[in-house]
Amino acid sequence: MPRQRWLGTHAGASYGEPGQDRASRKQRLGEVKRLAAEGAQRAADEASAAQHAAGDLVRPDLLPPLGEHRPLALRPLRRLRLPAHRATTDVLSGAYPFLAEAGLGADGVFVGQDAWSGGGFVFDPWVLYQRGTLTNPNCLLAGAVGKGKSCLAKCLATRSIAFGRRVYVPGDPKGEWTAVAAAVGGNSIQLGGGSANRLNPLDPGPRDGTLDDSAWDVVVTTRRRTLLGSLAESALGRPLAAVEHTTLDVALRSVVDSDSVPTLPRIVNALFEPTRGEGGASVTELTRDGRDVGHGLRRLVSGDLAGLFDGPSTVAFDPTLPMVTLDLSRIQGSDQLTAMVMTCASAWMEAALASTDGGQRWVIYDEAWRLIRQPALLARMQGQWKLSRGLGIANLLIIHRLSDLDAVGDAKTASRAMAQGLLADCSTKIVYQQEASEAGHALRQLGLSVTEGAQLPDLQRGEGLWRVGQRAFIVRHLATDAELDLFDTSSRMVDRPGPQRA
Ligand SMILES: Nc1ncnc2c1ncn2[C@@H]1O[C@H](COP(=O)(O)OP(=O)(O)OP(=O)(O)O)[C@@H](O)[C@H]1O
Ligand SMILES: [Mg+2]
Repeated sequence: MPRQRWLGTHAGASYGEPGQDRASRKQRLGEVKRLAAEGAQRAADEASAAQHAAGDLVRPDLLPPLGEHRPLALRPLRRLRLPAHRATTDVLSGAYPFLAEAGLGADGVFVGQDAWSGGGFVFDPWVLYQRGTLTNPNCLLAGAVGKGKSCLAKCLATRSIAFGRRVYVPGDPKGEWTAVAAAVGGNSIQLGGGSANRLNPLDPGPRDGTLDDSAWDVVVTTRRRTLLGSLAESALGRPLAAVEHTTLDVALRSVVDSDSVPTLPRIVNALFEPTRGEGGASVTELTRDGRDVGHGLRRLVSGDLAGLFDGPSTVAFDPTLPMVTLDLSRIQGSDQLTAMVMTCASAWMEAALASTDGGQRWVIYDEAWRLIRQPALLARMQGQWKLSRGLGIANLLIIHRLSDLDAVGDAKTASRAMAQGLLADCSTKIVYQQEASEAGHALRQLGLSVTEGAQLPDLQRGEGLWRVGQRAFIVRHLATDAELDLFDTSSRMVDRPGPQRA
Protein backbone atom coordinates (compact mmCIF):
# COMPACT_ATOMS: atom_id res chain seq x y z
CA MET A 1 0.00 0.00 0.00
CA PRO A 2 1.46 3.42 -0.96
CA ARG A 3 2.50 5.71 1.92
CA GLN A 4 -0.16 8.35 2.78
CA ARG A 5 1.29 11.81 1.88
CA TRP A 6 -1.84 13.93 2.16
CA LEU A 7 -1.29 16.46 4.91
CA GLY A 8 -4.87 17.54 5.61
CA THR A 9 -5.53 21.21 6.26
CA HIS A 10 -1.87 22.17 5.73
CA ALA A 11 -1.93 20.87 2.17
CA GLY A 12 -0.70 23.49 -0.26
CA ALA A 13 0.79 23.81 -3.70
CA SER A 14 3.88 21.81 -2.71
CA TYR A 15 1.94 18.81 -1.54
CA GLY A 16 0.60 16.50 -4.24
CA GLU A 17 -2.17 13.93 -4.43
CA PRO A 18 -1.13 10.43 -3.37
CA GLY A 19 0.31 8.55 -6.32
CA GLN A 20 1.86 11.54 -8.10
CA ASP A 21 5.50 11.13 -9.03
CA ARG A 22 8.20 13.67 -8.18
CA ALA A 23 8.53 15.06 -11.73
CA SER A 24 4.82 15.82 -12.17
CA ARG A 25 4.67 17.37 -8.68
CA LYS A 26 7.60 19.61 -9.56
CA GLN A 27 5.98 20.57 -12.85
CA ARG A 28 2.73 21.40 -11.09
CA LEU A 29 4.52 23.49 -8.46
CA GLY A 30 6.29 25.44 -11.23
CA GLU A 31 2.95 26.04 -12.93
CA VAL A 32 1.37 27.38 -9.71
CA LYS A 33 4.32 29.72 -9.11
CA ARG A 34 4.15 31.03 -12.67
CA LEU A 35 0.40 31.69 -12.39
CA ALA A 36 0.86 33.47 -9.05
CA ALA A 37 3.65 35.68 -10.48
CA GLU A 38 1.55 36.50 -13.55
CA GLY A 39 -1.45 37.37 -11.36
CA ALA A 40 0.64 39.68 -9.17
CA GLN A 41 2.19 41.34 -12.22
CA ARG A 42 -1.26 41.85 -13.79
CA ALA A 43 -2.64 43.39 -10.60
CA ALA A 44 0.34 45.74 -10.33
CA ASP A 45 0.05 46.70 -14.02
CA GLU A 46 -3.67 47.41 -13.64
CA ALA A 47 -3.11 49.53 -10.51
CA SER A 48 -0.35 51.44 -12.26
CA ALA A 49 -2.50 51.99 -15.38
CA ALA A 50 -5.42 53.17 -13.23
CA GLN A 51 -3.11 55.60 -11.48
CA HIS A 52 -1.79 56.99 -14.73
CA ALA A 53 -5.33 57.35 -16.02
CA ALA A 54 -6.34 59.26 -12.89
CA GLY A 55 -3.33 61.53 -13.34
CA ASP A 56 -2.11 60.76 -9.81
CA LEU A 57 1.46 60.85 -8.65
CA VAL A 58 3.27 57.58 -9.39
CA ARG A 59 3.53 55.64 -6.17
CA PRO A 60 6.72 53.60 -6.11
CA ASP A 61 5.07 50.95 -3.91
CA LEU A 62 2.58 50.15 -6.70
CA LEU A 63 5.22 49.70 -9.39
CA PRO A 64 5.83 46.10 -10.54
CA PRO A 65 9.04 44.72 -9.01
CA LEU A 66 10.89 44.73 -12.33
CA GLY A 67 9.58 48.11 -13.47
CA GLU A 68 6.68 49.09 -15.72
CA HIS A 69 5.80 47.17 -18.91
CA ARG A 70 6.46 49.79 -21.54
CA PRO A 71 9.22 50.77 -23.93
CA LEU A 72 12.16 52.66 -22.48
CA ALA A 73 11.09 51.85 -18.93
CA LEU A 74 14.61 50.57 -18.09
CA ARG A 75 13.32 47.15 -16.98
CA PRO A 76 16.16 45.04 -15.55
CA LEU A 77 16.64 41.42 -16.61
CA ARG A 78 16.51 40.23 -13.06
CA ARG A 79 16.01 41.81 -9.68
CA LEU A 80 18.98 43.85 -8.43
CA ARG A 81 20.44 42.30 -5.32
CA LEU A 82 23.07 44.28 -3.47
CA PRO A 83 24.78 43.23 -0.28
CA ALA A 84 23.65 45.24 2.75
CA HIS A 85 25.92 48.09 3.69
CA ARG A 86 26.28 49.45 7.19
CA ALA A 87 27.63 52.86 8.16
CA THR A 88 27.25 55.37 10.95
CA THR A 89 24.49 58.01 10.65
CA ASP A 90 27.28 60.59 10.49
CA VAL A 91 28.55 59.08 7.26
CA LEU A 92 25.08 58.32 5.89
CA SER A 93 23.80 61.86 6.43
CA GLY A 94 26.64 63.00 4.13
CA ALA A 95 26.05 60.29 1.55
CA TYR A 96 22.26 60.70 1.60
CA PRO A 97 21.35 64.27 2.55
CA PHE A 98 17.86 64.76 4.05
CA LEU A 99 17.71 61.12 5.15
CA ALA A 100 18.86 61.72 8.68
CA GLU A 101 16.80 64.94 9.27
CA ALA A 102 15.20 65.04 12.67
CA GLY A 103 12.11 66.98 11.48
CA LEU A 104 10.66 70.21 12.80
CA GLY A 105 8.71 68.76 15.70
CA ALA A 106 4.98 68.34 16.05
CA ASP A 107 3.92 71.91 16.95
CA GLY A 108 2.04 73.57 14.12
CA VAL A 109 0.04 72.90 11.01
CA PHE A 110 0.23 69.49 9.35
CA VAL A 111 1.45 69.93 5.77
CA GLY A 112 2.10 66.43 4.48
CA GLN A 113 4.73 63.74 4.41
CA ASP A 114 8.46 64.17 4.66
CA ALA A 115 9.51 62.20 1.59
CA TRP A 116 12.81 61.03 3.05
CA SER A 117 11.88 60.00 6.56
CA GLY A 118 8.26 59.07 5.74
CA GLY A 119 7.12 60.96 8.85
CA GLY A 120 4.57 63.77 9.00
CA PHE A 121 5.78 67.28 8.21
CA VAL A 122 4.50 70.10 10.36
CA PHE A 123 5.21 73.80 9.84
CA ASP A 124 4.43 76.93 11.77
CA PRO A 125 6.55 80.06 11.14
CA TRP A 126 5.64 81.60 14.50
CA VAL A 127 6.61 78.50 16.49
CA LEU A 128 9.84 78.10 14.52
CA TYR A 129 10.66 81.79 14.97
CA GLN A 130 10.15 81.43 18.71
CA ARG A 131 12.46 78.42 18.75
CA GLY A 132 15.14 80.29 16.82
CA THR A 133 15.00 77.99 13.77
CA LEU A 134 13.85 80.97 11.65
CA THR A 135 15.03 84.57 11.80
CA ASN A 136 11.75 85.88 10.32
CA PRO A 137 8.32 84.38 9.63
CA ASN A 138 8.15 85.29 5.90
CA CYS A 139 7.95 82.58 3.24
CA LEU A 140 8.64 82.45 -0.48
CA LEU A 141 6.90 79.82 -2.62
CA ALA A 142 8.18 79.32 -6.17
CA GLY A 143 7.01 76.71 -8.66
CA ALA A 144 5.99 76.07 -12.26
CA VAL A 145 2.39 76.65 -13.40
CA GLY A 146 -0.17 74.24 -11.96
CA LYS A 147 2.16 72.45 -9.56
CA GLY A 148 0.02 73.13 -6.50
CA LYS A 149 1.36 76.40 -5.06
CA SER A 150 -2.03 77.98 -4.41
CA CYS A 151 -3.34 74.67 -3.08
CA LEU A 152 -0.52 74.60 -0.50
CA ALA A 153 -1.10 78.25 0.42
CA LYS A 154 -4.83 77.62 0.89
CA CYS A 155 -4.17 74.54 3.03
CA LEU A 156 -1.66 76.43 5.20
CA ALA A 157 -4.12 79.30 5.52
CA THR A 158 -7.26 77.30 6.34
CA ARG A 159 -5.49 74.86 8.64
CA SER A 160 -3.85 77.78 10.51
CA ILE A 161 -7.28 79.23 11.30
CA ALA A 162 -7.85 76.30 13.66
CA PHE A 163 -4.80 77.56 15.59
CA GLY A 164 -6.33 81.03 16.03
CA ARG A 165 -4.50 82.68 13.15
CA ARG A 166 -6.20 84.99 10.64
CA VAL A 167 -5.56 85.21 6.93
CA TYR A 168 -5.59 88.18 4.55
CA VAL A 169 -5.16 88.10 0.79
CA PRO A 170 -4.60 91.72 -0.26
CA GLY A 171 -5.11 90.99 -3.95
CA ASP A 172 -6.54 87.93 -5.66
CA PRO A 173 -6.33 88.51 -9.43
CA LYS A 174 -7.93 85.12 -10.27
CA GLY A 175 -10.68 85.29 -7.64
CA GLU A 176 -9.83 81.74 -6.51
CA TRP A 177 -9.76 82.61 -2.79
CA THR A 178 -13.39 83.78 -2.72
CA ALA A 179 -14.83 80.28 -2.22
CA VAL A 180 -12.18 79.53 0.40
CA ALA A 181 -13.05 82.68 2.39
CA ALA A 182 -16.74 81.79 2.26
CA ALA A 183 -16.05 78.22 3.45
CA VAL A 184 -14.16 79.39 6.57
CA GLY A 185 -16.67 82.12 7.48
CA GLY A 186 -14.59 84.97 6.11
CA ASN A 187 -15.37 87.75 3.68
CA SER A 188 -14.37 88.51 0.13
CA ILE A 189 -14.48 92.10 -1.07
CA GLN A 190 -15.22 92.23 -4.78
CA LEU A 191 -13.97 95.19 -6.75
CA GLY A 192 -14.89 96.22 -10.28
CA GLY A 193 -17.18 94.58 -12.82
CA GLY A 194 -20.29 96.46 -11.73
CA SER A 195 -19.74 95.96 -7.98
CA ALA A 196 -20.68 99.03 -5.94
CA ASN A 197 -17.75 98.49 -3.56
CA ARG A 198 -15.30 101.36 -3.32
CA LEU A 199 -12.09 101.59 -1.29
CA ASN A 200 -10.36 104.77 -0.26
CA PRO A 201 -6.66 103.89 -0.19
CA LEU A 202 -6.01 107.06 1.85
CA ASP A 203 -8.05 105.72 4.80
CA PRO A 204 -6.02 106.05 8.00
CA GLY A 205 -6.91 102.52 9.21
CA PRO A 206 -7.53 101.59 12.84
CA ARG A 207 -5.53 103.67 15.27
CA ASP A 208 -2.83 102.06 17.33
CA GLY A 209 -3.83 102.79 20.95
CA THR A 210 -0.22 103.29 22.06
CA LEU A 211 0.30 106.39 19.86
CA ASP A 212 -0.55 109.96 20.88
CA ASP A 213 -2.16 112.42 18.42
CA SER A 214 1.02 113.83 16.93
CA ALA A 215 2.69 110.41 16.54
CA TRP A 216 -0.48 109.06 14.89
CA ASP A 217 -0.53 112.05 12.48
CA VAL A 218 3.06 111.29 11.49
CA VAL A 219 2.24 107.59 10.89
CA VAL A 220 -0.81 108.37 8.73
CA THR A 221 0.94 111.12 6.75
CA THR A 222 3.94 108.88 6.04
CA ARG A 223 1.67 106.07 4.93
CA ARG A 224 -0.30 108.34 2.60
CA ARG A 225 2.81 109.95 1.17
CA THR A 226 4.41 106.55 0.48
CA LEU A 227 1.23 105.32 -1.19
CA LEU A 228 0.88 108.38 -3.42
CA GLY A 229 4.57 108.16 -4.36
CA SER A 230 4.21 104.44 -5.26
CA LEU A 231 1.07 105.09 -7.30
CA ALA A 232 2.64 107.98 -9.19
CA GLU A 233 5.79 105.95 -9.92
CA SER A 234 3.72 102.97 -11.14
CA ALA A 235 1.62 105.24 -13.34
CA LEU A 236 4.60 107.07 -14.83
CA GLY A 237 6.84 103.99 -15.00
CA ARG A 238 9.80 105.90 -13.59
CA PRO A 239 11.05 107.20 -10.23
CA LEU A 240 9.73 110.63 -9.24
CA ALA A 241 11.96 113.68 -9.44
CA ALA A 242 12.55 115.65 -6.23
CA VAL A 243 10.26 118.49 -7.38
CA GLU A 244 7.48 115.97 -8.06
CA HIS A 245 7.75 114.63 -4.52
CA THR A 246 7.36 118.20 -3.29
CA THR A 247 4.21 118.77 -5.38
CA LEU A 248 2.69 115.56 -4.01
CA ASP A 249 3.54 116.59 -0.43
CA VAL A 250 2.01 120.02 -0.90
CA ALA A 251 -1.13 118.61 -2.53
CA LEU A 252 -1.58 116.05 0.25
CA ARG A 253 -1.15 118.67 2.98
CA SER A 254 -3.61 121.10 1.39
CA VAL A 255 -6.25 118.34 0.99
CA VAL A 256 -5.79 117.07 4.57
CA ASP A 257 -6.05 120.67 5.91
CA SER A 258 -9.27 121.38 4.02
CA ASP A 259 -11.04 118.02 4.20
CA SER A 260 -11.50 115.44 6.93
CA VAL A 261 -11.63 112.56 4.41
CA PRO A 262 -8.90 113.01 1.79
CA THR A 263 -9.58 111.15 -1.45
CA LEU A 264 -7.65 110.60 -4.67
CA PRO A 265 -9.79 112.96 -6.85
CA ARG A 266 -9.07 115.79 -4.40
CA ILE A 267 -5.35 115.06 -4.54
CA VAL A 268 -5.50 115.12 -8.36
CA ASN A 269 -7.35 118.47 -8.24
CA ALA A 270 -4.83 119.88 -5.81
CA LEU A 271 -2.01 118.81 -8.14
CA PHE A 272 -3.58 120.51 -11.17
CA GLU A 273 -4.67 123.62 -9.27
CA PRO A 274 -2.50 124.29 -6.22
CA THR A 275 -3.94 127.07 -4.05
CA ARG A 276 -0.80 128.23 -2.29
CA GLY A 277 2.94 128.17 -2.82
CA GLU A 278 4.84 125.98 -0.34
CA GLY A 279 8.10 124.08 0.13
CA GLY A 280 10.12 126.76 -1.66
CA ALA A 281 7.94 126.61 -4.80
CA SER A 282 5.47 129.16 -6.14
CA VAL A 283 1.95 128.26 -7.35
CA THR A 284 3.15 128.45 -10.96
CA GLU A 285 6.09 126.13 -10.29
CA LEU A 286 3.89 123.65 -8.41
CA THR A 287 1.38 123.63 -11.28
CA ARG A 288 4.14 122.97 -13.82
CA ASP A 289 5.98 120.33 -11.76
CA GLY A 290 2.81 118.48 -10.74
CA ARG A 291 1.36 118.06 -14.24
CA ASP A 292 2.87 114.64 -15.02
CA VAL A 293 2.02 113.26 -11.58
CA GLY A 294 -1.53 114.63 -11.79
CA HIS A 295 -2.09 113.02 -15.19
CA GLY A 296 -0.62 109.73 -13.96
CA LEU A 297 -2.95 109.59 -10.94
CA ARG A 298 -5.95 110.63 -13.04
CA ARG A 299 -6.05 107.08 -14.43
CA LEU A 300 -7.22 105.89 -11.02
CA VAL A 301 -10.13 108.31 -10.74
CA SER A 302 -11.46 108.35 -14.28
CA GLY A 303 -11.61 105.98 -17.24
CA ASP A 304 -11.76 102.22 -16.66
CA LEU A 305 -10.90 102.42 -12.95
CA ALA A 306 -13.51 105.08 -12.14
CA GLY A 307 -15.65 104.18 -9.15
CA LEU A 308 -13.07 101.92 -7.45
CA PHE A 309 -10.80 104.23 -5.48
CA ASP A 310 -12.24 107.69 -6.04
CA GLY A 311 -14.32 108.34 -2.94
CA PRO A 312 -14.82 107.42 0.70
CA SER A 313 -14.81 103.65 1.36
CA THR A 314 -18.17 101.91 1.12
CA VAL A 315 -16.91 98.69 2.70
CA ALA A 316 -15.37 98.24 6.10
CA PHE A 317 -12.49 95.95 6.84
CA ASP A 318 -13.43 93.57 9.63
CA PRO A 319 -10.15 92.38 11.17
CA THR A 320 -11.98 89.95 13.45
CA LEU A 321 -12.97 87.67 10.55
CA PRO A 322 -10.82 84.56 10.05
CA MET A 323 -10.14 85.42 6.40
CA VAL A 324 -10.54 88.55 4.27
CA THR A 325 -9.65 88.59 0.59
CA LEU A 326 -9.78 91.28 -2.09
CA ASP A 327 -11.19 89.74 -5.24
CA LEU A 328 -9.74 91.61 -8.23
CA SER A 329 -10.74 89.03 -10.86
CA ARG A 330 -13.21 91.38 -12.50
CA ILE A 331 -10.59 94.02 -13.15
CA GLN A 332 -8.97 93.54 -16.51
CA GLY A 333 -5.96 95.46 -17.72
CA SER A 334 -2.23 95.56 -18.23
CA ASP A 335 0.18 94.41 -15.54
CA GLN A 336 0.83 98.07 -14.81
CA LEU A 337 -2.85 98.75 -14.22
CA THR A 338 -3.21 95.62 -12.08
CA ALA A 339 -0.21 96.74 -10.07
CA MET A 340 -1.80 100.14 -9.46
CA VAL A 341 -5.03 98.50 -8.37
CA MET A 342 -3.09 96.14 -6.13
CA THR A 343 -1.16 99.07 -4.68
CA CYS A 344 -4.39 100.86 -3.73
CA ALA A 345 -6.12 97.71 -2.51
CA SER A 346 -3.16 96.43 -0.51
CA ALA A 347 -2.50 99.90 0.96
CA TRP A 348 -6.07 99.96 2.21
CA MET A 349 -5.79 96.49 3.70
CA GLU A 350 -2.29 96.99 5.09
CA ALA A 351 -3.40 100.15 6.90
CA ALA A 352 -6.07 98.06 8.58
CA LEU A 353 -3.52 95.35 9.44
CA ALA A 354 -0.97 97.69 10.95
CA SER A 355 -2.12 97.26 14.51
CA THR A 356 0.08 95.43 16.95
CA ASP A 357 -2.88 93.83 18.75
CA GLY A 358 -4.25 92.06 15.65
CA GLY A 359 -2.72 88.72 16.65
CA GLN A 360 -0.77 86.43 14.35
CA ARG A 361 -1.76 86.71 10.71
CA TRP A 362 -0.86 85.32 7.32
CA VAL A 363 -0.73 87.87 4.50
CA ILE A 364 -0.68 85.96 1.22
CA TYR A 365 0.43 87.52 -2.07
CA ASP A 366 -0.75 84.94 -4.63
CA GLU A 367 0.38 85.55 -8.22
CA ALA A 368 2.99 87.94 -6.84
CA TRP A 369 5.22 87.52 -9.91
CA ARG A 370 3.06 90.17 -11.59
CA LEU A 371 3.54 92.61 -8.77
CA ILE A 372 7.24 92.41 -8.13
CA ARG A 373 7.88 93.68 -11.66
CA GLN A 374 6.56 97.06 -10.50
CA PRO A 375 9.38 98.72 -8.56
CA ALA A 376 6.99 100.95 -6.61
CA LEU A 377 4.93 98.01 -5.42
CA LEU A 378 8.08 96.10 -4.63
CA ALA A 379 9.20 98.93 -2.37
CA ARG A 380 5.87 98.81 -0.53
CA MET A 381 6.16 95.06 -0.09
CA GLN A 382 9.67 95.40 1.25
CA GLY A 383 8.32 97.85 3.84
CA GLN A 384 5.68 95.29 4.86
CA TRP A 385 8.33 92.58 5.10
CA LYS A 386 10.40 94.68 7.50
CA LEU A 387 7.36 95.32 9.70
CA SER A 388 6.24 91.69 9.77
CA ARG A 389 7.91 90.58 12.99
CA GLY A 390 6.69 93.60 14.96
CA LEU A 391 3.10 93.11 13.78
CA GLY A 392 3.00 89.30 14.15
CA ILE A 393 2.52 88.91 10.40
CA ALA A 394 3.92 86.13 8.20
CA ASN A 395 3.99 87.18 4.53
CA LEU A 396 3.78 84.47 1.87
CA LEU A 397 4.99 85.49 -1.59
CA ILE A 398 4.05 83.17 -4.47
CA ILE A 399 6.00 83.35 -7.73
CA HIS A 400 6.75 81.01 -10.64
CA ARG A 401 10.52 81.08 -10.83
CA LEU A 402 13.31 82.50 -8.75
CA SER A 403 14.48 84.24 -11.91
CA ASP A 404 11.26 86.32 -11.65
CA LEU A 405 13.19 88.24 -9.03
CA ASP A 406 15.99 88.83 -11.56
CA ALA A 407 13.53 90.18 -14.11
CA VAL A 408 13.02 93.17 -11.84
CA GLY A 409 14.78 96.27 -13.19
CA ASP A 410 18.30 96.16 -14.63
CA ALA A 411 21.27 94.54 -12.92
CA LYS A 412 22.69 96.60 -10.06
CA THR A 413 19.59 98.85 -9.90
CA ALA A 414 17.85 99.62 -6.63
CA SER A 415 14.82 97.55 -7.75
CA ARG A 416 16.93 94.45 -8.37
CA ALA A 417 18.55 94.88 -4.96
CA MET A 418 15.10 95.24 -3.40
CA ALA A 419 13.88 92.03 -5.06
CA GLN A 420 16.94 90.19 -3.77
CA GLY A 421 16.35 91.74 -0.35
CA LEU A 422 12.82 90.34 -0.37
CA LEU A 423 14.23 86.88 -0.98
CA ALA A 424 16.80 87.34 1.78
CA ASP A 425 14.01 88.40 4.16
CA CYS A 426 12.17 85.11 3.64
CA SER A 427 13.61 82.60 6.09
CA THR A 428 11.47 79.85 4.58
CA LYS A 429 11.78 79.09 0.88
CA ILE A 430 9.59 76.45 -0.69
CA VAL A 431 10.54 75.42 -4.21
CA TYR A 432 8.12 73.36 -6.28
CA GLN A 433 9.07 71.84 -9.61
CA GLN A 434 11.39 74.02 -11.68
CA GLU A 435 12.54 73.54 -15.25
CA ALA A 436 16.00 71.97 -15.52
CA SER A 437 17.30 75.31 -16.83
CA GLU A 438 15.95 77.04 -13.70
CA ALA A 439 17.27 74.49 -11.22
CA GLY A 440 20.85 75.80 -11.42
CA HIS A 441 19.56 79.30 -10.78
CA ALA A 442 17.57 78.17 -7.75
CA LEU A 443 20.59 76.29 -6.50
CA ARG A 444 22.72 79.44 -6.52
CA GLN A 445 20.00 81.78 -5.22
CA LEU A 446 19.01 79.58 -2.32
CA GLY A 447 22.41 78.08 -1.57
CA LEU A 448 21.12 74.54 -2.10
CA SER A 449 23.42 71.53 -2.24
CA VAL A 450 23.90 69.88 -5.64
CA THR A 451 21.83 66.91 -4.45
CA GLU A 452 18.99 69.22 -3.41
CA GLY A 453 19.16 71.13 -6.70
CA ALA A 454 19.04 67.90 -8.69
CA GLN A 455 15.65 67.09 -7.13
CA LEU A 456 13.92 70.20 -8.46
CA PRO A 457 13.11 69.16 -12.06
CA ASP A 458 11.79 65.75 -10.89
CA LEU A 459 9.35 67.00 -8.25
CA GLN A 460 5.75 65.95 -8.86
CA ARG A 461 2.67 68.10 -8.34
CA GLY A 462 2.33 68.88 -4.64
CA GLU A 463 5.96 68.00 -3.87
CA GLY A 464 8.38 70.70 -2.85
CA LEU A 465 11.82 71.31 -1.47
CA TRP A 466 11.38 73.20 1.78
CA ARG A 467 14.32 75.24 2.91
CA VAL A 468 13.50 76.16 6.51
CA GLY A 469 16.30 78.33 7.84
CA GLN A 470 19.39 76.25 7.17
CA ARG A 471 17.54 72.95 6.95
CA ALA A 472 16.05 71.24 3.92
CA PHE A 473 13.19 68.79 3.45
CA ILE A 474 11.38 67.26 0.50
CA VAL A 475 7.72 67.37 1.44
CA ARG A 476 4.73 65.81 -0.28
CA HIS A 477 1.78 68.05 0.48
CA LEU A 478 -1.28 66.01 1.46
CA ALA A 479 -4.76 67.47 1.11
CA THR A 480 -8.10 65.88 1.95
CA ASP A 481 -10.75 65.30 -0.74
CA ALA A 482 -12.87 68.10 0.72
CA GLU A 483 -9.92 70.50 0.57
CA LEU A 484 -9.05 69.52 -3.00
CA ASP A 485 -12.65 70.02 -4.02
CA LEU A 486 -12.71 73.49 -2.48
CA PHE A 487 -9.30 74.54 -3.81
CA ASP A 488 -9.68 72.99 -7.28
CA THR A 489 -8.44 75.31 -10.01
CA SER A 490 -8.42 72.82 -12.90
CA SER A 491 -12.12 71.91 -13.08
CA ARG A 492 -12.45 73.75 -16.37
CA MET A 493 -9.51 71.83 -17.85
CA VAL A 494 -10.79 68.36 -16.94
CA ASP A 495 -13.86 66.57 -18.32
CA ARG A 496 -15.87 65.46 -15.36
CA PRO A 497 -18.99 63.36 -15.40
CA GLY A 498 -22.13 65.01 -14.07
CA PRO A 499 -23.05 68.68 -13.99
CA GLN A 500 -20.32 71.22 -14.64
CA ARG A 501 -19.14 73.27 -11.70
CA ALA A 502 -19.89 76.96 -11.64
N1 LIG B 1 -1.00 68.10 -3.15
C1 LIG B 1 -1.89 67.93 -4.12
N2 LIG B 1 -2.51 66.75 -4.29
C2 LIG B 1 -3.43 66.58 -5.26
N3 LIG B 1 -3.82 67.56 -6.11
C3 LIG B 1 -3.25 68.75 -6.01
C4 LIG B 1 -2.25 69.01 -5.02
N4 LIG B 1 -1.84 70.28 -5.14
C5 LIG B 1 -2.56 70.80 -6.17
N5 LIG B 1 -3.39 69.89 -6.67
C6 LIG B 1 -4.33 70.12 -7.78
O1 LIG B 1 -3.60 70.69 -8.87
C7 LIG B 1 -4.35 71.72 -9.48
C8 LIG B 1 -3.49 72.96 -9.65
O2 LIG B 1 -3.12 73.43 -8.37
P1 LIG B 1 -2.88 74.98 -8.06
O3 LIG B 1 -3.94 75.84 -8.61
O4 LIG B 1 -2.65 75.07 -6.58
O5 LIG B 1 -1.52 75.23 -8.86
P2 LIG B 1 -0.66 76.56 -8.94
O6 LIG B 1 0.76 76.13 -8.82
O7 LIG B 1 -1.14 77.57 -7.96
O8 LIG B 1 -0.96 77.03 -10.42
P3 LIG B 1 -0.79 78.52 -11.03
O9 LIG B 1 0.67 78.71 -11.24
O10 LIG B 1 -1.56 78.45 -12.31
O11 LIG B 1 -1.37 79.47 -10.04
C9 LIG B 1 -5.56 72.01 -8.61
O12 LIG B 1 -6.73 71.65 -9.27
C10 LIG B 1 -5.36 71.16 -7.37
O13 LIG B 1 -6.56 70.58 -6.93
MG1 LIG C 1 -1.97 79.51 -8.20
